[in-house]
Amino acid sequence: MQRVLRSTMFPSLTRMENTRLGWSPGSWRTKEAAQQVDYADEEHLQTVLNAIRRQPPLVTSWEIEALRKQLREAAAGRRFLLQGGDCAESFEDCQEELIKNRLKILLQMSVVLIYSLQMPVVRVGRFAGQYAKPRSKSLETRNGMSLPSYRGDNINDLEFTPEARIPDPERLMEAYRYSAIQLNFVRALADGKFADIHNADYWGLGFAQQSPHIKSYQTIIGKIREALRFAETVADDPIGGLNRVDFFTSHEALHLPYEEAFTRQVPHSDSIYNLSTHLPWIGKRTLFKGSAHIEYMRGIRNPIGIKVSAEMAPSDLVPLLRNLNPLNDPGRITMITRMGVAKIENALPGLIDAVQRAGLNALWCCDPMHGNTETASGGIKTRRFDNILAELETAMDIHTSMKSILGGVHFELTGEDVTECVGGASDVGEADLNLRYRSTVDPRLNVGQSLEMALRIAQKYQALEQV
Ligand code: PEP
Ligand code: CO
Repeated sequence: MQRVLRSTMFPSLTRMENTRLGWSPGSWRTKEAAQQVDYADEEHLQTVLNAIRRQPPLVTSWEIEALRKQLREAAAGRRFLLQGGDCAESFEDCQEELIKNRLKILLQMSVVLIYSLQMPVVRVGRFAGQYAKPRSKSLETRNGMSLPSYRGDNINDLEFTPEARIPDPERLMEAYRYSAIQLNFVRALADGKFADIHNADYWGLGFAQQSPHIKSYQTIIGKIREALRFAETVADDPIGGLNRVDFFTSHEALHLPYEEAFTRQVPHSDSIYNLSTHLPWIGKRTLFKGSAHIEYMRGIRNPIGIKVSAEMAPSDLVPLLRNLNPLNDPGRITMITRMGVAKIENALPGLIDAVQRAGLNALWCCDPMHGNTETASGGIKTRRFDNILAELETAMDIHTSMKSILGGVHFELTGEDVTECVGGASDVGEADLNLRYRSTVDPRLNVGQSLEMALRIAQKYQALEQV
C-alpha cells in the first residue's frame, strides 16, 4: 500500500475530508457558474476534454508546494511577490522574442526589488495559460452589428466576424499546447545562463535604453556586481545557486471544464492539485457568494488568488477566507486587491481590519491596474501611470499604518515598447496610444514603464522603512 503523507507544516484538507465536505473536482457543477461558454456541440467539448485528461500535466505538485512555501514567506514579510504578464495571452504571441523579453523585464524588476527590499522575490508570470477572459458584456456591437464578445484565444477568435466568434472546443487543446511550448522555453531559460545574475547586462532591452530610469537600474546592477566580485574573491569560488531562478505560472481559472480536466490526484499525496498552473486565481466577476469558481477552488491544494475589489464587504471576505482556507495556512490565499486610486482609501482599511480581527492568515498583494482602467478621448482603453503608482503607494501606506504586510504586487505588463498606458518618464501621451497598441483586452505597462514602476516601489519602500 502506498504511504500517504500529510504535511503538518503545510496543512490542507485530505481527499477524505474534502469528500466529507461534499467537494469533488466536479462539484462546482451544482453551483452558479458565471462567464461560462455555450458550445454548440457538447459531445465535441467532452471529446477534447477527455483528450486533455490523458495529456501530461503542465506543472508538478512539488513545484506547487514550493510556491506555497514561498507565498507563506511573503505573507510573513520575508519575501516579495512579483506577479505580472499579459492581460490576455494570444496564440500568435507564443514567439521566442516576446517570451524572452517578458522574462527579461520580470528579471530586471525583480533585481531592483531584491536589492532595494533586501529580500528574495517570488516571480509569478501571468503566462502559459492566461487565455480565458471574463467579459462585462456578452455582445460586442460595431457599426450596428452585434456579435458574441471575444472571450480569449482558448474560446473564440478576436476577428469581428460571426464565424470567428463561435466558441470552438479545439481551442482548449491548442491552449494546452501553446502553454506547454511556452513553459518548455521558460523552464530552459530559467535554468540556464539567461537568468544568471552575472549576465544581467544581457537582460537590457534595446528600447529601454532611452528610459530616464536606466541609470538608476544600471547603478543597482553595478553595485550587485561589485558585491558579487567581492564575495567570490573572498570565497575563492563562484557563488552557487545564482545561475538559475524560479518562474511560476498563474492564470484566471475561469474555464471550469478545462481546469477540471487538469484536476488530478498525485502519487504519495492525499491532496488533489490543479496541474494546469501553479497559482490559479478567481477573478472579480466570478467571486460572488455561491459561485461555482469558489466551489472549485475550495478543494484543490494549489495556492490560489482572489481578486478583491472595492465592492467586497468585510463581512463577506471573512467567511470567504474561512471557506477557502479552513486550516488558516498563510501560503494558501493571495488577496489581490484591485480597487482603483479613487476607492482604495475607503475600501482597503475595513478589509484589513476585518481580516486582522478574525485572526486570518493570507497574503496581501496589490493589483493597481484593474481599478484604474479608463477610456481615453479617442475611445481607447487606457490606464494612467500616475494612477497606477498612486494606488500602489496608497496601499503601501495603508498596510504600513495598520501594521499589516503588503507582500506583493500584480501588474499587466510586457517586455515590448507598446503604447497602451499613458504617462511615466518616457511620457506616452493619449495621442500616442494608436502607435503601438497591441493588447487584445487591457492596456499593459510597457518595458520602460515597468522598470520605472519597480524603481518607484523600491523608493517608496525605502522611504517607509526610514519612518
Ligand atoms: C484580469 O486580471 O485581467 C481581470 C479581468 O481582473 P479582475 O477580475 O480583477 O477584473
Ligand atoms: Co486585465
